[in-house]
Amino acid sequence: MDLRNLSWHYIAVCLLAVLGSVGPAADALNNGLALTPTMGWLHWERFMCNIDCDREPDNCISERLFMQMADVMVKEGWKEAGYEYVCIDDCWPSRQRDAQGRLQADPRRFPRGIKKLADYVHSKGLKLGIYADVGKSTCAGYPGSLGYYETDAQTFADWGVDLLKFDGCFMDWNLLGEGYMNMSKALTKTGRSILFSCEWPLYEWPFQKPNYTAIRETCNHWRNSADVYDSWSSVKSIFEWAASHQDIIVPSAGPGGWNDPDMQESQMALWAIMAAPLFMSNDLRDICPRSKKLLQNRHIIAINQDPLGKQGYLTVDSFEVWERPLMRNRLAIAVLNKQEIGGPRGFAIRAAPGWKLCDPLCEVTQILPKYKELGFHTPKSPMVVSANPSGTVLLTITPLSSDLTGLYKLHRQDIFVKNKHIVL
Ligand SMILES: *[C@@H]1O[C@H](CO)[C@@H](O)[C@H](O)[C@H]1NC(C)=O
Ligand SMILES: *[C@@H]1O[C@H](CO)[C@@H](O)[C@H](O)[C@H]1NC(C)=O
Repeated sequence: MDLRNLSWHYIAVCLLAVLGSVGPAADALNNGLALTPTMGWLHWERFMCNIDCDREPDNCISERLFMQMADVMVKEGWKEAGYEYVCIDDCWPSRQRDAQGRLQADPRRFPRGIKKLADYVHSKGLKLGIYADVGKSTCAGYPGSLGYYETDAQTFADWGVDLLKFDGCFMDWNLLGEGYMNMSKALTKTGRSILFSCEWPLYEWPFQKPNYTAIRETCNHWRNSADVYDSWSSVKSIFEWAASHQDIIVPSAGPGGWNDPDMQESQMALWAIMAAPLFMSNDLRDICPRSKKLLQNRHIIAINQDPLGKQGYLTVDSFEVWERPLMRNRLAIAVLNKQEIGGPRGFAIRAAPGWKLCDPLCEVTQILPKYKELGFHTPKSPMVVSANPSGTVLLTITPLSSDLTGLYKLHRQDIFVKNKHIVL
């Protein structure tokens, strides 16, 4: 299918999805988790705080919703594509803690409790994520974890939870760092592997520049910018934020710890470049084939999951060219046309800084809008890629081996290798 003819809005409405993203290095939170960006599904953007199970039994935050998503993730190829975590967001607990001060699931919506739900999700070969808040209450007003970090960490471990999204509402910003670090220690102390997803920098930026060294030691990924919505302006503002803060956030990402930008085609491409955790928030029971194909695109996922673990960055500003170094000296390049009106615009790819990998010779593969092998190229190749308004062309560049390069130098003329034309 050719995605180039779709308007952004169509894709936006069709996907109804949210992804989170990016991050290097030695002193990541050492829990052996998130060595590549986390992939999964999270209820928030699609289902929010819908607790009305009488009127909307299929769309309320209940054990039934998460069991159905787990079923679909296995049946419809999501698990096979790499999506692993089924994540509960806000509004799951009861308004009151139990007599021992422990959080408890809302008894009407989760009658069998979170442990049984975790057992079910595990029986499908998937993992369960849960949500809590570093402050006095969650963003939607349910009990927060302030003063209960060890109790809550132990409760989640006892239930068999595999990931904690820890929000930052209703917390004195001076204490954010302490709170997140205390919870990280409490999770480690339980002895269970629980991936720790933080919102610490998001809540600290309005007051001061967060300490990303400390964040990386504490969290597996961290949200920097606000929740993503089903709109191009929302997604665009996240790219813009990442570009203007890349000197700070790019060096902080790497195996074990990632920046989390909170989906659509351009979004999917850029989330792959930015090494973002891929959390979908959509209704997997009712997703259009085009969105499914995009979200399960193995070439894009391979870039996202590249084990080198380097986050990509903006290079050419006038168009918007992002690049991400990959394993074996390869490079992914995303060319984004941020203009929202008019026709497709062409970009001469040799103007991308990463094109230097093509000296003397490289092989280029287009991943989006459509998979295409574009053959071999030299530094002077006249190739122009064309991106629709709000659209993105995603490419990978593989520098060629010295044998092929030698062959090329010897002939100094058009040659064919594996039936592919080398463009001079
Ligand atoms: C974090 O833990 C330390 C040491 O137990 C404690 O003094 C401090 O109050 C805690 N901070 C928060 C925000 O819970
Ligand atoms: C940032 O955190 C690191 C690790 O916790 C610490 O060593 C460093 O002093 C902190 N930097 C600042 C400016 O507070």
